[in-house]
Amino acid sequence: MKNFYITTPIYYPSGKPHMGHAYSSIIADIFARFKRIDDYNVMFLTGTDEHGLKMQREAEKKSKDIKSFCDELSLKFKDLTKILNLSNNDFIRTTEQRHHKSVIDIWSRLEKSKDIYLSKYKGWYSVSDEAYYDEDEIVTKNNIKYSKGSGSKVEWVEEESYFFKLSAWQNKLIKFYEEENPKFILPKSRKNEVIQFVKKGLKDLSVSRTSFSWGIPVPKNSKHVIYVWLDALTNYLSALNFPNTNNDKYKSFWPADVHIIGKDILRFHAIYWPAFLMAAKIPLPKRVYGHGWILSDQKKMSKSLGNILDPIEIINNYGVDQLRYYLTKEVSLGNDGNISLESLSDCINNDLANNYGNLCQRVFSFINKNCNSKIPKLNKVKPEDKKLTNDLIDQLPKLKELIENQELNQYLKKVIEFSFNANKYFNDQEPWSLKKNNLERMNTVLYVILNQIRSISILLYPIIPISTTKVLDTLTIEKSQRNIKSIENSTFLKDGGLIKKFDILFKKIEK
Ligand code: MSP
Repeated sequence: MKNFYITTPIYYPSGKPHMGHAYSSIIADIFARFKRIDDYNVMFLTGTDEHGLKMQREAEKKSKDIKSFCDELSLKFKDLTKILNLSNNDFIRTTEQRHHKSVIDIWSRLEKSKDIYLSKYKGWYSVSDEAYYDEDEIVTKNNIKYSKGSGSKVEWVEEESYFFKLSAWQNKLIKFYEEENPKFILPKSRKNEVIQFVKKGLKDLSVSRTSFSWGIPVPKNSKHVIYVWLDALTNYLSALNFPNTNNDKYKSFWPADVHIIGKDILRFHAIYWPAFLMAAKIPLPKRVYGHGWILSDQKKMSKSLGNILDPIEIINNYGVDQLRYYLTKEVSLGNDGNISLESLSDCINNDLANNYGNLCQRVFSFINKNCNSKIPKLNKVKPEDKKLTNDLIDQLPKLKELIENQELNQYLKKVIEFSFNANKYFNDQEPWSLKKNNLERMNTVLYVILNQIRSISILLYPIIPISTTKVLDTLTIEKSQRNIKSIENSTFLKDGGLIKKFDILFKKIEK
């Protein structure tokens, strides 16, 4: 069996989970689920990023003990994984011992390779982004300094610090992106952005702090804590029992197949992370995919604008599959995308209720009424039956390729078109008329369409797992048979098999 390792960013747990968090994880979950039904052994990781000045200040502001504060906040994000119906195999916390061990090992490797030296840092730091910025990345408004890119406030820092020799890796990074692994950063626009930034020249990176204590202490110099990004990025290895590189998890899953991230944290994943790994002599992940930004009212969501859409509230009101489907459809994966309750309702009504939901509903209720709730017999097939079935089967290699390249919107477009065509086939074949004069043909049409519902449901499963599971349960298909391979068999369903009772899949949203 082939292995596949996919990660989401581990979340800063301060603050409420918002739609951006939900988006990153749902996307990764869809790829993880697809790979599982395509017979891969999948490891899907998420978790919480708990060290750093941001967390320390939050805890101080609330007069809370920092560790119990982290426990409380991390739990909220663990709960979110359940609410979003994520299929993660592990949930890692950077405050765990297994992670601590792995960060210390990376640090020691970097020291050993002489990529770390002690000096003094003088410059701008954003606590909210936990990032250092150059002078030309800063703007001043009303005497306050902000990062041009993220808009967050920056403060002046001057302290003793260890540095990582990032500058020494500049040419090797360029060679890696341009020649050795041209699909390392996707989509292409993000790759170009990174290459441009690296070609401008990389400065050595401050990788420790002395002005606060909430982090992993530097070995043999505990007045320093390790920079929170060097700490956080290592989580991807910690979950594989690194530094034990001889264990099965590490051997099966490293290097990771894809890190799914938002574009705001591209620099950390596409520049710092590969440079750390090259220096530590650890193989590099195969891909970093930087998705776009979720906008509300065409703007970045923020408390002050009052335009935050809360994923938990939306799930309570509309359903989790509905939100997962909507985000996949509405936002073009590599780009920014605007979302609104108005277009959410339209999407649920048009694609889910009227298209896929309606297809299942009308076919199952016809069979319940007219075929004694049994799968009808497939008799002689006509070209139009073959066309419906084979159009889908022939596209399976293409669908796999689309997922391989994270072209999720194209994937969904194709699958929903199959559902549209299946509805059209049902209308054109008019089984209600055949019932009067050609039962043999009626049975064939019903068999063909049931099989098509089975295939479409398997293909939609990664996006809307709860609803498609209901459909596949209705068809009494064994769990082990709900996979891409089984779609190739167009006579998979056994005639005489029971069609279970079926409830409405998607309620229409009244406007
Ligand atoms: N802790 C770091 C990640 C460390 S990974 C080693 C972090 N956490 S975060 O909680 O701020 O963000 C988590 C993810 O949510 C990131 O991928 C980020 O891009 C994504 N989003 C946060 N707001 C977003 C939107 N409005 N839209 C889409 N995704 C955005 O960064």
